[in-house]
Amino acid sequence: MTQHFIVIGNPIAHSKSPEIHTQFAAQVGINISYQRQYCPDDAAGFTAVIEAFFQGGGVGANVTVPFKQVAYDCCAARGGLSEHAKVAGAVNTLLLNKALLKSGTPIAEAIYGDNTDGQGLVNHITSLGWPLKDARVAIIGAGGAARGVILPLIEAGIAELTLANRTLSKAINLVAELSVASETINDQQIKTCSTEALSGDFDIIINATSIGLSGDTLLLSDELSGHYAYDMMYGRELPFLQHFAERGAQTSDGYGMLIGQAALSFECWTGHTIDVVKVTKTLQAL
Ligand code: ATR
Repeated sequence: MTQHFIVIGNPIAHSKSPEIHTQFAAQVGINISYQRQYCPDDAAGFTAVIEAFFQGGGVGANVTVPFKQVAYDCCAARGGLSEHAKVAGAVNTLLLNKALLKSGTPIAEAIYGDNTDGQGLVNHITSLGWPLKDARVAIIGAGGAARGVILPLIEAGIAELTLANRTLSKAINLVAELSVASETINDQQIKTCSTEALSGDFDIIINATSIGLSGDTLLLSDELSGHYAYDMMYGRELPFLQHFAERGAQTSDGYGMLIGQAALSFECWTGHTIDVVKVTKTLQAL
């Protein structure tokens, strides 16, 4: 029997998710169909698409730009949210809440949201062999991408977190919001500063800004150094990584995070565990 999945976005033609999930299915030996689903950029259109998909027998959906917050609102009003989705304020994985279905809730009311982005990052960093336990970590950026990774990094046992952003007030507000949204996070745990003022020696420095899309480069202090530098972007020249590589750091782009978050979605839909390292090698050879 074929299980049906989609990824919903706007635009969506560039999405690599169908290739990735097809490799996962081949690895564990199940039949799936995984399609790109375009959707008009409005909440009513999004809701109509996901309801029709699940009512038509769909098993799971990924959500990408610009619908992650819309998906959050949708699930909050229907089948519920995982802790990671609640704290991220965004949903990248949709599935049906089986307990609600069992108790007679209609399919459209049982759509549940999870967020695997942050854990995908943590799993990738771990697979690189970079130490997270007791690490001093800096994140640059205070938008949706940064928000989604903070709880999983804290759960991974990091010792210190500094959140730097061009607009300092956004970093301060984000920390305040997260400490309300999660019992695991308190505002004393996370330091904030402006991006230019970020200085000192960190184990891991993560670029969670959208600067890679613009071609600009971040203004960084000469007093900032890191053993490992990670850019959540991938598939293009990343000046952030060049900057730290020139100063002796090990670096990685976010391609492994993309595979990592996809693997976690696949696992939560199908119950099958993915050998992410093996699939990444296969995909890179394609
Ligand atoms: P995303 O969902 O990808 O995180 P976002 O919510 O728009 O996107 O956030 C973009 C982040 O990149 C913000 O932290 C933004 O900084 P500001 O809050 O000061 O806007 C950061 N960013 C984007 N362009 C930047 C630039 N040229 N220099 C520094 N930071 C930049």
